Amino acid sequence: MGFRRRSILPAAILSTAFAVGAVGVGFAQQQRGDIAQSLPATNLSSEKQVDPSVPPPAPGFANAHVANNPLAPDAKPIGEKTCISCHQLEAEHFTHTLHSLGLHVANKSDPNIPVCEACHGPGSAHAEKPTARGLIIAYTKRSGTSIEIQTKTCLTCHSGGPRDHWLGSVHQRNGLSCSDCHNPMSKFSVEGSLARASINDTCAQCHKDVRLQFNRRSHMPLPEGQMSCDDCHNPHGNVSNGSTSLQNFPLSKTNTVNETCYQCHAEKRGPFLFEHPPVRESCLNCHTPHGSNQSTLLTAPVPFLCIQCHGGGHYGNVFAGTGLAPQATSAANVNERLMGRGCLNCHTQVHGSNASAGPRLHE
Ligand code: HEC
Ligand code: HEC
Ligand code: HEC
Ligand code: HEC
Ligand code: HEC
Ligand code: HEC
Ligand code: HEC
Ligand code: HEC
Ligand code: HEC
Ligand code: HEC
Repeated sequence: MGFRRRSILPAAILSTAFAVGAVGVGFAQQQRGDIAQSLPATNLSSEKQVDPSVPPPAPGFANAHVANNPLAPDAKPIGEKTCISCHQLEAEHFTHTLHSLGLHVANKSDPNIPVCEACHGPGSAHAEKPTARGLIIAYTKRSGTSIEIQTKTCLTCHSGGPRDHWLGSVHQRNGLSCSDCHNPMSKFSVEGSLARASINDTCAQCHKDVRLQFNRRSHMPLPEGQMSCDDCHNPHGNVSNGSTSLQNFPLSKTNTVNETCYQCHAEKRGPFLFEHPPVRESCLNCHTPHGSNQSTLLTAPVPFLCIQCHGGGHYGNVFAGTGLAPQATSAANVNERLMGRGCLNCHTQVHGSNASAGPRLHE
């Protein structure tokens, strides 16, 4: 369904990365193509093996039934027409949504299939006492319906796939409901039945600080509309262990930080003849994902970035015997103008080298 965009995006990015890489990095193109082939698609829908004991992601509208509302145990379904008699405006907004189209088709072929009551539960008690809270399943914080019942109702049709990770996730624990991000009552977004026009706007309702980091000097093209938060995050829960560490991050969409980055930066996956260990460990050793005031999303400017891990001895080696610089033995007394501070001028292959003469990551 709505995921065609997702299969095009990574393809476009892979080809961009390919074009960039082809200039800067000198290793076999074929190999990179092969790696790209083996990558997972950027698709929120799980492509894991289906566990037969778990119902498939959506049984479809044909199996829709009146939702269970424990706060109105004696209520009976009253049908869409009765709801509309009091809720005409909501019903009009609802008309062009995916759920409305699907439920109406199903309801035409089998009048026992509910429309509104598939999500809101049986309406008779509510119709009699509209102001009594809880008699209708409602999806706002001020309603009488607990968040647990709200999410359970949606999950009767939507368990499985990425939502497998919902229970225990940071959003679940912090009392978010599906309706904080989804509003199936109106077509606010082209796809995804979101509460705002785009995924990024939906997240920015609460994570404005992160969204603003993407306005920094160096950032991935999220403000430009080519990426969204869910390219890296699964808002429904962690796929990795979700700890905040170099290798894992909260609400991650893949098993590790690096797997997430390789989705689009396949050429960094290697393997390389000469690896740079911090790259293998985690891209976060040097990069920050949401935006940086340094160039290329770096956490610190070169050479400070490199010097965090690499001490002094090397400078002596570079200039030894050239007469260009004192026989410096430490970074402190090297001639900085000669060094140009540009470790990258010489060590160009900082992510790893495939040249047989490149053990120092310089070609
Ligand atoms: C007799 C008129 C009437 C009928 C019939 C009716 N409603 Fe309502 N409904 C209301 C009124 C009035 C309110 C506002 C109550 C309030 O603000 O306290 C309301 C509120 C709601 C709310 C929000 C509740 C909350 O706690 O925030 C939902 C959801 C809702 N109705 C859904 C439905 C659905 C679905 C049906 C059909 C099954 C339905 N209603 C039938 C009159 C009606
Ligand atoms: C796919 C599930 C779903 C279906 C089907 C559905 N609703 Fe809703 N409805 C919701 C959610 C979720 C909200 C909360 C939206 C929000 O965040 O404001 C809601 C909100 C409402 C509200 C309350 C609005 C408010 O401001 O509190 C009313 C009234 C309502 N729905 C009526 C209906 C009627 C009438 C129908 C059938 C024509 C219907 N709904 C079908 C999920 C559904
Ligand atoms: C009666 C079953 C049923 C219920 C209840 C239900 N849905 Fe759906 N929903 C579906 C089906 C079927 C689809 C379309 C097929 C699919 O996405 O798997 C769908 C699609 C969606 C989509 C993708 C829409 C798109 O435009 O791409 C979202 C998001 C969604 N539902 C959220 C919700 C939320 C939130 C609730 C609870 C308020 C809910 N659904 C309740 C059956 C249901
Ligand atoms: C923190 C925000 C957030 C919350 C909370 C959330 N979702 Fe989503 N959901 C998203 C985003 C973002 C997408 C991706 C939409 C897209 O790709 O267009 C999505 C996609 C979906 C889809 C369609 C994609 C698919 O895999 O078929 C369904 C169905 C869905 N969510 C259901 C739910 C249900 C059910 C809940 C509550 C248990 C929920 N969501 C809670 C943000 C959220
Ligand atoms: C209704 C508010 C709300 C929305 C919308 C929302 N979040 Fe959150 N999010 C929270 C809260 C609350 C927490 C837990 C507190 C915290 O750590 O900030 C959280 C935590 C997170 C975390 C983990 C932070 C940590 O340090 O553990 C990530 C990642 C995240 N959200 C991503 C997203 C993404 C991506 C979206 C959009 C798809 C989104 N959120 C939409 C409220 C929201
Ligand atoms: C390129 C991948 C990527 C994208 C796109 C992305 N994130 Fe993240 N996000 C990460 C990684 C990796 C971390 C862990 C960072 C760390 O531990 O230093 C993270 C951490 C977070 C955190 C918790 C720590 C913090 O910085 O507050 C939140 C909240 C969050 N992201 C929200 C978002 C939102 C909202 C968006 C969209 C505006 C988004 N992310 C887009 C990869 C991404
Ligand atoms: C959904 C695809 C996608 C994912 C996932 C992704 N990136 Fe990117 N990244 C891009 C695109 C697109 C660009 C811009 C490329 C261009 O302009 O040629 C980019 C650019 C970059 C740049 C260069 C920025 C600059 O200012 O030149 C760095 C560094 C980077 N990404 C690191 C990462 C890291 C680290 C991760 C994992 C946390 C990651 N990316 C995940 C798509 C992605
Ligand atoms: C040891 C530090 C370090 C680590 C770890 C690292 N990078 Fe980089 N990265 C850099 C530096 C320095 C640059 C700037 C290179 C330049 O300007 O020539 C860069 C540039 C980039 C760029 C933009 C230019 C290009 O080469 O395409 C991308 C994309 C990128 N890194 C992705 C990644 C990914 C993905 C990872 C994890 C697999 C990663 N980096 C790990 C230091 C690092
Ligand atoms: C997080 C720590 C870390 C950072 C940051 C880092 N490196 Fe490294 N680097 C290492 C480690 C560990 C090795 C492997 C050392 C070994 O094998 O003895 C290494 C190896 C190297 C080598 C090959 C050395 C050899 O003995 O073969 C070069 C060259 C190098 N790094 C350059 C750089 C440059 C340039 C930067 C900055 C862009 C940088 N490194 C940033 C940790 C780091
Ligand atoms: C003028 C070119 C040049 C610059 C600039 C340069 N290097 Fe080197 N670097 C080399 C060469 C050549 C070697 C190999 C020396 C050898 O094999 O004895 C080397 C070796 C290394 C090694 C391997 C360990 C060692 O001491 O032999 C590391 C680590 C290293 N450089 C890090 C850095 C860092 C960090 C910077 C920036 C502060 C930097 N280099 C700047 C040319 C340069």
